[in-house]
Amino acid sequence: MKRFAVIGGTGINELAGLTPSGRHSIKTPYGATSRPIEEGRIRGCTVYFLQRHGAPGAIPPHKINYRANLWALHSLGVTEVVAINAVGGINPDMPTGALVVPDQIIDYTWGREHSIDDGAGGELLHIDFTRPYDETLRQTLLDLADDNSIRVCAPATHGITQGPRLETAAEIARLEHDGCDVVGMTGMPEAALARELGMAYASICMVVNPAAGKGDQPITLDMMRETLRREAAVVESLLAHLFTASSSG
Ligand code: HPA
Repeated sequence: MKRFAVIGGTGINELAGLTPSGRHSIKTPYGATSRPIEEGRIRGCTVYFLQRHGAPGAIPPHKINYRANLWALHSLGVTEVVAINAVGGINPDMPTGALVVPDQIIDYTWGREHSIDDGAGGELLHIDFTRPYDETLRQTLLDLADDNSIRVCAPATHGITQGPRLETAAEIARLEHDGCDVVGMTGMPEAALARELGMAYASICMVVNPAAGKGDQPITLDMMRETLRREAAVVESLLAHLFTASSSG
């Protein structure tokens, strides 16, 4: 039986349509989650929701306790995680306003607690990460988008930088050369921790600005927020289709 969680990013502070039934403040071996996990139902499906930045905008990407967040979701019996990430667009085919379901990751982050393997378990945890996102969950999202005329770009490589500052134009040129299509700050180590814990994980990226050097205006938070407001509604409708399909399937 599948049990879903949504991890909300910038601009997704609550989950539209969620009829709440509880809140979980979970003690984890790694400390506290970004905020209590909300439980509720959407379209007949039990869903957990966690905003990774805590109270809106409070925890920057490099300070998020990714291990606590993923461990807590797993302890609630979550099997499928859909992560929402705001990103900058590098590939011109993925402009501001586009939704992207990536299939690959390049991790440029550093200094984050990126594994639940502290070497104490007596066995090393070398997860296979060849395909960092769960193919079945990805394909389900893509099929539902297709069936419901929601435009989604895929495949794509999601580059993840340390932040919290945005990149230089030269850094983005390097990411582009490496093959990145979009750039964000929160996709890792979240995806790897989900894999370590055995949860299926996919991401829906919302392109909220042209990456550094790709647009003709300075990148501002106001520019991002404006796009986020519009894209969040489309993401929520895609999620509603996912939950409808899961409760009837
Ligand atoms: N770079 C990194 N992370 C981001 C960006 C960006 O341009 N936009 C939104 N998140």
